[in-house]
Amino acid sequence: MQISNTIALVTGTNRGLGLAFSRELVRRGAARVYGAARHPDQVTEPGVTPVGLDITDQAQVAAVAARCSDVSLLVNNAGQPEVLADERTRTVKASLSRDHELIYPPIQEFWDSAIQSTT
Ligand SMILES: NC(=O)c1ccc[n+]([C@@H]2O[C@H](COP(=O)([O-])OP(=O)(O)OC[C@H]3O[C@@H](n4cnc5c(N)ncnc54)[C@H](OP(=O)(O)O)[C@@H]3O)[C@@H](O)[C@H]2O)c1
Repeated sequence: MQISNTIALVTGTNRGLGLAFSRELVRRGAARVYGAARHPDQVTEPGVTPVGLDITDQAQVAAVAARCSDVSLLVNNAGQPEVLADERTRTVKASLSRDHELIYPPIQEFWDSAIQSTT
């Protein structure tokens, strides 16, 4: 995968894997790394541009897609593992594609907007 000179956006950048992804993108020479987080003041990694984004908020997703229209690499990291660990686990596993659509439509919208902006 080409990283150098890529413009990337990582969701859930303030901690955990998202922080590690954004740090590594900077280290590998990405031209710009947007670090999206619900609380952008928590994004303090050097070289990462903080962006406020709750991925479940459609209006915020649309606003970020417009603001970050130069993104060509989206790391869709933000999430809550417990969604798949509660009592709904069997239902989710039994109909994963449907639940996927319920969980990720904001990100799909972001991705569609990002693609349109680069074509
Ligand atoms: N670690 C693992 O072993 C593992 C295994 C399988 C899958 N995953 C997946 O990998 C991803 C990262 O895992 P992790 O271990 O780094 O998790 P984590 O430490 O719990 O971090 C989750 C990140 O997602 C953010 N987030 C959650 N809901 C959000 C929302 N609605 N809008 C914006 N940001 C949101 C959190 O922000 P806040 O600080 O604001 O809550 C946090 O930055 C998750 O999607 C997880 O399901 C992880």
